[in-house]
Amino acid sequence: MTEIPEHLLKRSKSAKGQKTGDGPASTAESSSSAVTPAASETPAPSGPPAIAAAAAAIPKDVEPAPAAPEPHYVAASRARNRIPMWALPLVFALPIWALSYAGTMQLPPTEDLLFVDAAQAYSSCASCHGATGGGGVGYALSGGEVLQTFPEPVDQMAYVARGSAAIAGETYGANGRRVAGELGVMPAHKDTYTLLELELVVFYERAILSEEDTTDASYLEWMDNLRERIEANEQDPIDLDQLLGCADPAITPGGGGGGGGPECPGPASAG
Ligand code: HEC
Repeated sequence: MTEIPEHLLKRSKSAKGQKTGDGPASTAESSSSAVTPAASETPAPSGPPAIAAAAAAIPKDVEPAPAAPEPHYVAASRARNRIPMWALPLVFALPIWALSYAGTMQLPPTEDLLFVDAAQAYSSCASCHGATGGGGVGYALSGGEVLQTFPEPVDQMAYVARGSAAIAGETYGANGRRVAGELGVMPAHKDTYTLLELELVVFYERAILSEEDTTDASYLEWMDNLRERIEANEQDPIDLDQLLGCADPAITPGGGGGGGGPECPGPASAG
């Protein structure tokens, strides 16, 4: 610094005076870093040799080449506060919200295996009865339809287990509502479903598709019983004769009198 000739320093100062009008960036520059650009910008009356002399006078190792002055918009951007004060609480709340949101997204609609497995048991019926039980090849099971045909679940279990071919031409359902085979063939499920799956699919068609009232004590007991057997991975086969013994003869051809009982599947009050 001390070795810069006096006339060059003066010229640098006058150049700086001109540049102040350019913007805040130039004023922020230190006098030392302004030396070279200011000197080069000034139309030098003394000519290039003087500049060369000045450059030679600056020890290269002491004074690094000055950086080009920042454009004023860059400096303004640096000076600006990135996050407005009012937004700060939001910035801190965002990760918490994101975490809790992610938490709800990861939860399945229901963690209750009763509903998961019941829906699974119904999946093979949907092709003929519709995904929401609206009907198709087979009767509609939604909107209370299935409850009108089978006031008690156990008669429905016997029907689904036996299918329609075995009782073709016979009347079934409450008030002689149906004649088996009239609409087509309902496949038998006694050998393809376990007893638990049969109860689950009947539960699904009644409680979910036909919105049966599930709030009385015996119904809730049945649901808890199903949950326990799911937990235990029960694989008991269907015993059609036992189901028929539990069924109401007024609704189920070959029914054994109904009355329900502890040995009959479904809500204990059934029959
Ligand atoms: C291949 C097509 C098909 C499949 C698969 C099928 N069904 Fe059916 N279902 C029918 C037909 C057809 C009828 C009517 C039979 C008749 O006319 O007697 C019927 C009738 C019924 C009825 C009597 C409804 C009423 O109001 O009379 C119930 C309950 C029923 N099915 C439940 C089921 C369940 C539960 C499953 C799955 C485990 C199932 N169905 C799978 C075709 C099917």
